[in-house]
Amino acid sequence: MTESTTPLSAPSARPQPKPWIAQIHAYVPGKSTGLDGKPLVKLSANENPLGTSAAAVAARATTPGAALYPDPDSKDLRNALGRLHGIDPARIVMGTGSDELLHIAAQAFAGVGDEVLFVRYGFSVYPIAARRCGATPVEAPDVDYGTDVDALLAAVTERTRVVFLANPNNPTGSYIGRAELARLHAGLRPDILLVVDQAYAEYVAPEDADGAFELARTTDNVLVTRTFSKIYGLAGERIGWATGPEAVVDMLNRIRGPFNVSLTGQAMGLAAVEDQAFVQASAAHNRAERARFVAALAALGNHGLRPLPSEANFVLIEFTGALTAEAAYLGLMEAGYITRWLPGQGLPQCLRITIGTPAQMDVIAATLRRLAEAAR
Ligand SMILES: Cc1ncc(COP(=O)(O)O)c(C=O)c1O
Repeated sequence: MTESTTPLSAPSARPQPKPWIAQIHAYVPGKSTGLDGKPLVKLSANENPLGTSAAAVAARATTPGAALYPDPDSKDLRNALGRLHGIDPARIVMGTGSDELLHIAAQAFAGVGDEVLFVRYGFSVYPIAARRCGATPVEAPDVDYGTDVDALLAAVTERTRVVFLANPNNPTGSYIGRAELARLHAGLRPDILLVVDQAYAEYVAPEDADGAFELARTTDNVLVTRTFSKIYGLAGERIGWATGPEAVVDMLNRIRGPFNVSLTGQAMGLAAVEDQAFVQASAAHNRAERARFVAALAALGNHGLRPLPSEANFVLIEFTGALTAEAAYLGLMEAGYITRWLPGQGLPQCLRITIGTPAQMDVIAATLRRLAEAAR
């Protein structure tokens, strides 16, 4: 056999996935039905219980026919976001949900042999984003389910290329303030991209803002991602955006989907940005209902239900008493509500519950009380 005809390795009978892709466990979305397929009230995916801004719904009705491609650059939407947040629209890149942006941020700056770092109990897309580009996901220890800046900094190695921080974090609801975020950034090498995932930032009181937008504007290595899926009530339209240094935004623009925000998404997103009254109302509703729910849990006394402090539109409850998180999950399902039990994320002792309407939260609190008292 001549060298040119010698196969490099035995041919496979079928296409072989890259090993780092084969290692991925697919993202597990919040369910909308019970074990028997019956539709339930969905408090499992952190959607807006108030729905969508009426102005955004009206904008959908006047969108031109679907035969046309949308604006590939989502110019009007980027301009509106730029005006609202005081950001140069040239430094804004849109995504098919912020999910696309998290993936392409990892892909643009990390690859085989590199590490992507995040905190334990971080958002479950981060390990997928890391593996998808061949990088190794690395988890830093948490502190009581929250972000530990010192632990993150201690976990940085010469291979670290990207650090993901959800702030507030999903599923824990934990949050670090401006000083801690600045300390994290200051402790990272300048060649490491810090991605601050602000999917829930609009729920945080303005005076408690973490300063990530400022870092994205003034430094060379901070990217902030945001979404229309949560407070804007547009999860179904799949719209996300990110802002950061021009050089970083430029890379993301090269690899994002060319028409990655749909016609209706751009029209509804634009109307939603211009209806900040709806955003304010949603934030106020969340603050009030979250406080009321946490107080109802506190009133359960020592049944071992501990709501973790949350700055987001959900509460993670740790169950340490006779009532387990699994039993509470099943009991709530029987009462007609689907919540998020998280054994797959190493949190079998926890249940994440999205803040719903006042009536829904009354049923949730009453059901948890009944289950906790029965479990004694
Ligand atoms: C922390 C965090 N980041 C990003 C996302 C992705 O949202 P989307 O792709 O809908 O923008 C979510 C959704 O649950 C989230 O919780």
